[in-house]
Amino acid sequence: MRGRNPYLGALAERRPARPYTITVQPLGVTVTVDPQKLSDGDHGLPGSVLGQLLDAGVEIDHACGGVLACSTCHVYIAAGSASCGEASEEEEDMLDGAPALRSTSRLACQCVPDGTSDVVVEIPAWNRNAVKEGH
Ligand code: FES
Repeated sequence: MRGRNPYLGALAERRPARPYTITVQPLGVTVTVDPQKLSDGDHGLPGSVLGQLLDAGVEIDHACGGVLACSTCHVYIAAGSASCGEASEEEEDMLDGAPALRSTSRLACQCVPDGTSDVVVEIPAWNRNAVKEGH
């Protein structure tokens, strides 16, 4: 499954104005995001952390394909949260069911950094088996 959840209203699109990096911990992998080559929204919102990491070959669990119908893409934003904007009400509702919730929790398929700073995401311990590089 992939794409957008048709039952959700249109969410405002965010686009980065300049290149930035996403570092995935504890994998220690850093991906550079080029605003001219954003993920197209096949896995979450266009330019989402999930889409950018998948495009770069970093596999993160995403059971629903990025349509905001699970919480398997749950990550912690360890740095750069201000550039990620606020979570939507729908994202907050889905996060409520996620294990090991923190104030820094986001769904990678809904989190679209605007490029004003680099971003560090941490994969929750319970979900690390599903993360790998170079798929
Ligand atoms: S992949 Fe299901 S909500 Fe993000």
